[in-house]
Amino acid sequence: MKNIVLIGFMGVGKGSIARAMVKKTAMMALDTDDVIESIENRSIKAIFAADGEEYFRNLERKVARWLKKNVTGTIISTGGGFYKVPALKKVGTVILLNAPFDTIYQRIAAHPDAVKKFKKRPLFKDIDKARALYEERLPQYLKVADVVIDVSDKTVDMIAKEIIKKGKKR
Ligand code: S3P
Repeated sequence: MKNIVLIGFMGVGKGSIARAMVKKTAMMALDTDDVIESIENRSIKAIFAADGEEYFRNLERKVARWLKKNVTGTIISTGGGFYKVPALKKVGTVILLNAPFDTIYQRIAAHPDAVKKFKKRPLFKDIDKARALYEERLPQYLKVADVVIDVSDKTVDMIAKEIIKKGKKR
């Protein structure tokens, strides 16, 4: 059974949606950022600060090769830049979760843990840079996606159901 790979911009809800899908299916989930933090025994923020972005991207590529070879039937939520790994399409069916930048930004800002949520994401430190990154990535996200889901104005549960339904047809 193929994996379901959730891609999309920081804060779009990949992790929450993966967890909601676990509740509705017999599938399990893993998150590529969690795998990296676990093998490195430090946070993404600490990895970026000490070793830089390229070091982190190398780890993402390594995780992708491992997933491709060893993991099946699993919901895989990814970091916002994971879509660039060469092995992506071989990891599973790629589902893009998308919403306009302002929707994503406002949703994080309205969260009770907003400060923490921004702090743990080195590439979301500066809103203008984050917006530029979103605009640069959107066409690339759309290009690699097998399925595109607009997550604006939908609950996590509604999105999880939509992915399960669309995933079954593939
Ligand atoms: C990144 C997104 C982050 C994390 C890292 C880099 C990106 O994950 O992988 O900070 O390049 O967009 P989330 O999308 O879960 O925030």
